[in-house]
Amino acid sequence: MTQEDRSTRTLAVDIGGSGIKVMVLDEEGQPQTERSRLETPQPPKPEPILEAIAFLAGGQGEFDRVSVGFPGVVSRGITKTAFNLDPSWIDFDLATTLKDRLGKPVRVANDADIQGLGSIAGSGVELVVTLGTGFGSSLFVDGILVPNLELGHHPFRKGETYEQQLGRFALDTVGTKRWNRRLEKAIVSVQNLFSLDYLYLGGGNTKKIVFALPAKVKIVPNVTGLLGGIALWRD
Ligand code: BGC
Repeated sequence: MTQEDRSTRTLAVDIGGSGIKVMVLDEEGQPQTERSRLETPQPPKPEPILEAIAFLAGGQGEFDRVSVGFPGVVSRGITKTAFNLDPSWIDFDLATTLKDRLGKPVRVANDADIQGLGSIAGSGVELVVTLGTGFGSSLFVDGILVPNLELGHHPFRKGETYEQQLGRFALDTVGTKRWNRRLEKAIVSVQNLFSLDYLYLGGGNTKKIVFALPAKVKIVPNVTGLLGGIALWRD
């Protein structure tokens, strides 16, 4: 197949605290390759993570552009916070560095924002919470993203933030039962805070949920963290 015969292909990348994942999407956002994954290098500094992305990209065939989900605040391709990676990510120009490395245009957004873009219905007040290493959040009003919502680092209960109570470390420390009770309380709390029409729960730790979810709360598959990457090119 020649370059002209096919639609634009986007390499979607998800940088996580425990894994780096990639997959190629077509113009409609449909997966074109099997998702591949590497453990997040330790320490999780920019250089070994860029190396891991380049390695994974090499196994994905051709692509024309790149979308990256990053686990922190991102402003114009620059990573501003990185609670669950290395502090050397603060003020790192991820978009330019990765563009130079892969030779393709790169757009970067917060990981929970990308998961949200891949999950929402596009009407009303919708919140997406990701339960992984960290606690991610993205809020949409009639499909429009409210930027930089970092609910994870906001106070929740007992002098701790949502991320301190519900992140991976908390789950490993207090166990599934207490983590589930906390999550039930967190759902009530965010529903009261935003009067939500819909709440979506994503991220690897959703598989630890054991209670019946209330109405208008649903679990979204992990792959939405990559599928939402297509939305970064809709402008
Ligand atoms: C970060 C968020 C991120 C979340 C999930 C938090 O620690 O501050 O920006 O979305 O983890 O990765």
